[in-house]
Amino acid sequence: MCLMTWDPAFSVDDEDLDRQHMRLVQLVNSLHDAMLAGSPRHAMDRIASDLSMYARFHFRKEEDLLKLHGYPAIDAHIEEHAEFRSKLDDFAGALKAGRQALPEPFLEFMKTWLCRHLTETDAGYACHLNISRAA
Ligand SMILES: [Fe+2]
Ligand SMILES: [Fe+2]
Repeated sequence: MCLMTWDPAFSVDDEDLDRQHMRLVQLVNSLHDAMLAGSPRHAMDRIASDLSMYARFHFRKEEDLLKLHGYPAIDAHIEEHAEFRSKLDDFAGALKAGRQALPEPFLEFMKTWLCRHLTETDAGYACHLNISRAA
């Protein structure tokens, strides 16, 4: 069973960003599936590393776009992205070091963070982007 399901409430009214968010949800689900299947650590490492790289790619794209459109709450947004990146790095590092790093609470953190970030923090820029693009 999926840890997370894409919800239309996650949409930020931007096809590219929605696609990137869907990919993040998919990668968190892959990590969860690998954990449930008892996949070897190298397989978990690989997915954690894909998630980390993709999150970095997405955050950079989003931050660049928000800067371009003069989004006023950009600093707090960047801080939240940094928090997620840092948690991911901790987890990936612990996996690599052979400490299993409690994957279940970690996955719960990922799920909760992503849901909240998408429905509150990312949702906060959707209206600003629409207005800025229409101007
Ligand atoms: Fe964001
Ligand atoms: Fe985002």
